[in-house]
Amino acid sequence: MAIRTIREFGDPVLNKVSKEVKEITPRIQDLIDDMFETMYDACGVGLAAPQVGILKRIVVIDTTGEDPILLINPRIVETSGEQTGNEGCLSLPGKSGVVTRPNYVKVVAQNENMETIELEGTELLARAFCHEIEHLDGHLYTEKVEGELVDTLPFDEDEEDYE
Ligand code: NI
Repeated sequence: MAIRTIREFGDPVLNKVSKEVKEITPRIQDLIDDMFETMYDACGVGLAAPQVGILKRIVVIDTTGEDPILLINPRIVETSGEQTGNEGCLSLPGKSGVVTRPNYVKVVAQNENMETIELEGTELLARAFCHEIEHLDGHLYTEKVEGELVDTLPFDEDEEDYE
C-alpha cells in the first residue's frame, strides 16, 4: 500500500467524469487499498478516485474511523429530508463552507467482489455519500456552498466538519 498524492482544487482531473469499473483487477485492488490509506493519512472521512488522479468510479468513506465503506460504481437511488452544515474536502485543505444536503440517502453500488449492495446513511454519512459521488461526475462542494468558503483551523478535534 502507498499514500497517493491528493489532487487539489484547480487540477483539471477534479472536473472530469470518471469511468465505470467493470472488474476488480490487481491494479484496481491496489488503488482501493491506497485510497483507504491516503484517506486515513489525511484524516479525511471520504475520498474519491479522481482525487488521486484516477478517473474510475470508486469511493472510500469512513465517518467514524472504524467503519470503512467501499463503493464501486455508486449511485444515489433515494433521498429525503434536509441538513445544513459545514463541509470540507481533502482537495481544498483548510477550507470549509456551508452546504445543504439531504438528511437521508440510499445508495446502490458494487462491493470488492462486484456484488450489488445497498447502503443507507443519515446525517454525516448521507452527506459523505452525496459529496463523494459528486466527485465522480467532476463536481466539487464549492459549487453548492452557501456564502463564502472559510478557513478552518487544522487539528481542531472539537469540530465535526465533513472533510
Ligand atoms: Ni471532496
